[in-house]
Amino acid sequence: MERLQKVIAASGYTSRRKAEELILNGKVTVNGKKVYELGTKVDTKDEIKIDGNVISREDKEYYLLYKPRGVITSTSDDKARKTVTDLINTKKRIYPVGRLDYDTTGVLLLTNDGEFTNIITHPSKKIDKVYVAKVKGIVNYMDIKKLCNGVYIDGVKTSKAKAKIKKYDKEKQTTIVELIIHEGKNHQVKKMFESLGYEVVKLKREKVAFFDLKGLKPGEYRSLTPKEVKIIYGEYKND
Ligand code: URA
Repeated sequence: MERLQKVIAASGYTSRRKAEELILNGKVTVNGKKVYELGTKVDTKDEIKIDGNVISREDKEYYLLYKPRGVITSTSDDKARKTVTDLINTKKRIYPVGRLDYDTTGVLLLTNDGEFTNIITHPSKKIDKVYVAKVKGIVNYMDIKKLCNGVYIDGVKTSKAKAKIKKYDKEKQTTIVELIIHEGKNHQVKKMFESLGYEVVKLKREKVAFFDLKGLKPGEYRSLTPKEVKIIYGEYKND
């Protein structure tokens, strides 16, 4: 038996908080009866409807893909380019958690669990996303400081971040920078560097939370373990 709002959120319909609002507003029925109690427990046989629509209770799947270059982060593409879901062998309707650009490589999670997606992507959860960027030019320490304190992209200041220089190539005039952010604005890393006059020529996401690329080659993927999923939900107890 699980709490109704958790089941609704896990179906991908909406977040847990929104699910609570729906329940309190009398929009949710269990086996045809309106339910207003937030603590209501349901099991897999119960039929849950929101505004008359049955919610999906299908099993959840979770994958970690080493996204290669030249694949789009989407479930379909009008130009018939390869998408990240084409790389994963499943019958479930999974979708990517956040977005990596066509030319960006690295950690990409995919799932059909909306609540999991919320936890990973919502900046308030402060989940680290670790990027390694190769940029044109020699990045100076003042600019590293600026990246850490926040820069303006599209008129909005980015949140505090961590940044450090990993390597310079004086001959080729490039710098490798590690940047750790919690947000996921469109093209965020490229735009953060752009705001300081640097062009990102290569970008890789090395980590999301504790998920890294160990054991995977570009294009390969693995399922998450139940323990990994529980840790993200904050439900893992080491006992
Ligand atoms: N920031 C970018 O600019 N591109 C990505 O793919 C991810 C983060």
